[in-house]
Amino acid sequence: MKLQVAVVYGGRSGEHEVSIRSAKSVLQAIDREKYDVVEYFISEDGRWHPEPILPEPGVQPDIDVVFPVLHGTFGEDGTVQGLLELADLPYVGAGVLGSSVSMDKEMMKRVCRERGLPVVDYVTMYRGSLDASRAIRDLPFPMFIKPANLGSSVGISKVRDRAELETALELAAKYDRKILAERAIDGQELECAVLGNEEPEASLPCEVLPSREFYDYEDKYLLDRAQFKLPAEIGAEKTVELRHLAIQCYTAVECSGMARVDFLLERSTGQLYINEINTIPGFTSISMYPKMWEVSGLPYPQLIDRLIDLALARHAAKKATRFTR
Ligand SMILES: Nc1ncnc2c1ncn2[C@@H]1O[C@H](COP(=O)(O)OP(=O)(O)O)[C@@H](O)[C@H]1O
Ligand SMILES: [Mg+2]
Repeated sequence: MKLQVAVVYGGRSGEHEVSIRSAKSVLQAIDREKYDVVEYFISEDGRWHPEPILPEPGVQPDIDVVFPVLHGTFGEDGTVQGLLELADLPYVGAGVLGSSVSMDKEMMKRVCRERGLPVVDYVTMYRGSLDASRAIRDLPFPMFIKPANLGSSVGISKVRDRAELETALELAAKYDRKILAERAIDGQELECAVLGNEEPEASLPCEVLPSREFYDYEDKYLLDRAQFKLPAEIGAEKTVELRHLAIQCYTAVECSGMARVDFLLERSTGQLYINEINTIPGFTSISMYPKMWEVSGLPYPQLIDRLIDLALARHAAKKATRFTR
């Protein structure tokens, strides 16, 4: 009997379209000799087709494992993971805690700091008490202003003066009640793929060369002009350091399955900073997560096998835990 894999995609986030492209590429790469695939599409207004996965154990006998290919809110943030925990279904990627901590750029930084991992200096603000003066007091220009819980660069601005800062805070506050101001790092942007549960492994890193001022929404999905260096040419020593930091970050936020850890390498100091961690990284035909594994010796279809095995292993390990007295 083939394993029945449910691929869930679409979803209510601003990354709905990207999720469709990611799912398309996963559906193309998955080994049909090993798996029977059922598709679950979630529309932009949250309706499931053909029908929703129900939160009760045992009521979906046709699903052995779920692959959520959902980016952003209501998919990558622990919400769908919570549904799948209730349903007692194995699923690919991080659990509820790892997903939600990773989704929130501030929580992720706090957890990394507690482990002594390098993150960029930042200030947190809340909608309703936006405070440009505090950001200016604590951080130099230029700064990056971002909503704490979004992806795909939506609501993010780079600002050089007070007027731009105030406009950017208003914009970011449309997308989240929590906002981050960060010191802008001048340097290289690097990404590293991580895979595993208890003993995660890191891929060779990749460098992203944005075609614009920074890696914004247009550059990520519309222009197709950003360039990539895979593997990144940062020297053996920095490569080792980066891969090590990627695993430490992954472990710190209690990830499992997979994640892509993104870095900024400062030109003037050579300091590596962890920028963010994505627990359901892009899987589109041009996405770096599967490509980084490919150059690291793990072809796409085998990557999917590993992800499914990890999902099943974590679910089996959980069975050893007692939830009642
Ligand atoms: N502190 C920073 N210094 C320099 N560039 C940054 C900084 N923060 C964000 N960026 C730029 O903005 C892009 C999007 O920011 P990021 O934090 O990765 O949010 P998202 O989750 O939307 O990808 C990054 O890829 C990078 O180009
Ligand atoms: Mg990013």
